[in-house]
Amino acid sequence: MLFADPWPKKRHWKRRIINAATVARFADLLADGGELRIATDDPGYRRWILACLLGEPRLEWQVTGPRDWRQRPADWPPTRYEEKAIAAGRRPVFLRFRRQPSTDKLASRGD
Ligand SMILES: C[S@@+](CC[C@H](N)C(=O)[O-])C[C@H]1O[C@@H](n2cnc3c(N)ncnc32)[C@H](O)[C@@H]1O
Repeated sequence: MLFADPWPKKRHWKRRIINAATVARFADLLADGGELRIATDDPGYRRWILACLLGEPRLEWQVTGPRDWRQRPADWPPTRYEEKAIAAGRRPVFLRFRRQPSTDKLASRGD
């Protein structure tokens, strides 16, 4: 999900495509090991996205250091909006969340 509209006004937050319900649905739909990839250049939306995602235990944030989420991974396509955001002096972040193995499978393996 690359640079989805952040809907910055509080009265419009219900329109955000990332919310607790959609995050749970993404976790339902992703295969084990599958990735949800989200980019944003909006600091308020970034905080919102992280709060929603960190509340979903089936999706683990794939961050390894303070800088890696600032760098677009080589296999993510650049977009026109990203170009414009950088030209305007904004700093995009690129967030990867990996679907953890379902607990059913862990239970059946005896883990
Ligand atoms: C800033 S543009 C980014 C377009 C493109 N992904 C890019 O990076 O160049 C935001 C896009 O979000 C779409 N959008 C509209 N409503 C949305 C919603 N509720 N949640 C997320 N995205 C929405 C718009 O149609 C628009 O194409």
